[in-house]
Amino acid sequence: MDLQVRAARPEDVGQFRQLLGRAFGWEPPPEREASFARLWEPERSYCVFEGDTMVATSGAFSLEMTVPGATVPTGGTTMVAVLPTHRRRGVLRMMMRAHLADVREREEPLAALWASDSGIYGRFGYGLASQHQDLSIDRHHAGRHRLAPAPTPVNLIDAEQARTRIPPIYEKTRVTRPGFFKRSEAWWEERILSDVPNNRGGATALRFAVADDDTGYVIYRQKGDWEKGHGAGEVRVVELVASTAGGWSGLWGFTLSHDLIKKVTADHRPPDDPIFDLVAARRRVNGPTSDALWVRTHDLVKALSTRRYQVEGRIVLAVVDKFLDEHTVVELVGGPDGAEACLSDEQPHLTLDIEDLGSGYMGWSRFRSLAGLGRIQGSAAALTQADLMFSWDPQPWCPEIF
Ligand SMILES: CC(C)(COP(=O)(O)OP(=O)(O)OC[C@H]1O[C@@H](n2cnc3c(N)ncnc32)[C@H](O)[C@@H]1OP(=O)(O)O)[C@@H](O)C(=O)NCCC(=O)NCCS
Repeated sequence: MDLQVRAARPEDVGQFRQLLGRAFGWEPPPEREASFARLWEPERSYCVFEGDTMVATSGAFSLEMTVPGATVPTGGTTMVAVLPTHRRRGVLRMMMRAHLADVREREEPLAALWASDSGIYGRFGYGLASQHQDLSIDRHHAGRHRLAPAPTPVNLIDAEQARTRIPPIYEKTRVTRPGFFKRSEAWWEERILSDVPNNRGGATALRFAVADDDTGYVIYRQKGDWEKGHGAGEVRVVELVASTAGGWSGLWGFTLSHDLIKKVTADHRPPDDPIFDLVAARRRVNGPTSDALWVRTHDLVKALSTRRYQVEGRIVLAVVDKFLDEHTVVELVGGPDGAEACLSDEQPHLTLDIEDLGSGYMGWSRFRSLAGLGRIQGSAAALTQADLMFSWDPQPWCPEIF
């Protein structure tokens, strides 16, 4: 039977969630349907049907994402799921075409996602734009570095206070860090501050603390445990964000100064997390590194002219997009104060796949190292110029999976 793709309708919500549950291996709790529907954007989600049976889904969040020096409307690709009975027949390929056409129609320069598997999305032009690390810190070997900055005092706040005090701190910080995105009130309520008991993993309800000058916050849980009569508990950081040296020092110090714990754990941390330089023994802060945000520079001219660049420069890029069968030459002139990009018929300085442009776009620039693998063609001088221009401090970090 033929497969048909169509935009989702609000009344599809039940079937849509069931299908997500089948593909990702969880049971959609009926009482969470309204919460799901508050953030779901059916008009830009797709369902694939075989006859009357829904066999696949994809979704998109309309995000405003921070890129180096700017914020950009971004199609946040999400909820991609194909029934086990219909996998590897090109259904994802079909949905990606519909999704990317929608992103283009909405004039969003970027599409971005977190991948369930890192081998999937390069073929669709998404490049690995940031990494994250799931950290575990051995509390008994996490003494402060002798040069650690003085900690800003930290105050405990309750869930009610967290609702009003934390979002403005995030809002101030998110525009300074590529990979962060704007959170609506509903997003805070349903995703960040909602505390469904089934999702606590045996730990406490969410707990909250803020730097007393409102330059940072931590959302965390505690899990008590004992080993041979000694406290062996854990502080689980859900999100820790700060914008000053004192805020970082105070908040990380706060998590590590709980009695009766053996470790502090924190998932989705950036590779340049200040914690590594706040402790005397950085080797005691460790954990697996993995791919995080994948970015597709869907509208090349808009994407390149919106972000800022670390140094002034001019470069002509030939960008190959096999999925959409496009080959585009773009001239970019940019620097710390702004940029202009336009289509060009000049001889390019670099020729690269759109995946590798997406990879460097957020500021984790690796043009030279990818060229070393034969993935990018161009002179050494052009590669150096591209890496200097595209690099950014701070490094991209997306603090949550969407
Ligand atoms: C991953 C998933 C969406 C793929 O859907 P699908 O319909 O089987 O994919 P397609 O048949 O359209 O495959 C498109 C291409 O992606 C490749 N691909 C699909 N899944 C892949 C995976 N997990 N790893 C690597 N490559 C993968 C296919 O081999 C195919 O490659 P080709 O273009 O070189 O032929 C589907 O298997 C699924 O729903 N899995 C469980 C949920 C999940 O992981 N969703 C993704 C969330 S980010």
